[in-house]
Amino acid sequence: MEIIIKDDFAAISAEGAKIVADYIRRKPDAVLGLATGSTPIGLYQELIRMHSHEGLDFQQVTTFNLDEYVGLPATHKLSYHYFMWEQLLSHININRDNVHLPDGMAADIPAYCKGYEEAIQAAGGIDIQVLGIGTDGHIGFNEPSSSLGSRTRLKTLTRETIADNARFFERADQVPRYAITMGVGTIMEAGTCILLASGAGKADPVAKAIEGPVTAMITASALQLHQDAIFILDKPAAGKLQLQEYYEWVYQNKDNRARAAAPIQAGP
Ligand code: GLP
Repeated sequence: MEIIIKDDFAAISAEGAKIVADYIRRKPDAVLGLATGSTPIGLYQELIRMHSHEGLDFQQVTTFNLDEYVGLPATHKLSYHYFMWEQLLSHININRDNVHLPDGMAADIPAYCKGYEEAIQAAGGIDIQVLGIGTDGHIGFNEPSSSLGSRTRLKTLTRETIADNARFFERADQVPRYAITMGVGTIMEAGTCILLASGAGKADPVAKAIEGPVTAMITASALQLHQDAIFILDKPAAGKLQLQEYYEWVYQNKDNRARAAAPIQAGP
């Protein structure tokens, strides 16, 4: 795991966007896994800026979103469809046919979820998955006790998640109780996972995810088993990490480490 600790929200957004943009520049037909919530908004704004000012090209990029509320049509202002078009997709040159978001209005949800998994496979799998973290440690909507091997499916949201997300709705009883979400197993198959977290309210789940046991009770902890998981945290979100100083030390020495690991050049 790589733990990157930055001063504030702007800095974690820039760091996350740089990783995604570098990948797209290397592989123009990259498959991105995208997340909603307030945390990735800064990353998306930075990608939009890179698109309009630096020519970052999304023409061949494919996207798959993590999750969607059940019962909200794509036109609903609080649906994750609406969020993604508002916050990112309308502002970049993405091909609409390459955009995939779970359909919260699907008539046959199990069949729909199976098809979503198949679409990810058909696209060649997800290269980079962007993640946030819920206050209960969830990734996507994989609430505590979700199987760490789970696939895309219907989930019942916890009361805690409903209360957290009520801030976007007029009343808590308007928050949908169910969502379609990629499973932990689906997320774990992404080539790289980058999890962003900001604010003291995330310090507890972040510490449990990184330094606690791998457990279905904190589904983000499954990332401890991922070969290329990067946590990008601002200082308040990193506030409860026991090894915070070590992670900062590793980051400071990153360039030297890369040189140390490089094969020794043969002499003349
Ligand atoms: C929702 C989403 C998650 C997101 C979480 C945190 O539950 N399903 O993907 O990580 O909210 O949201 P925020 O970034 O607003 O704290």
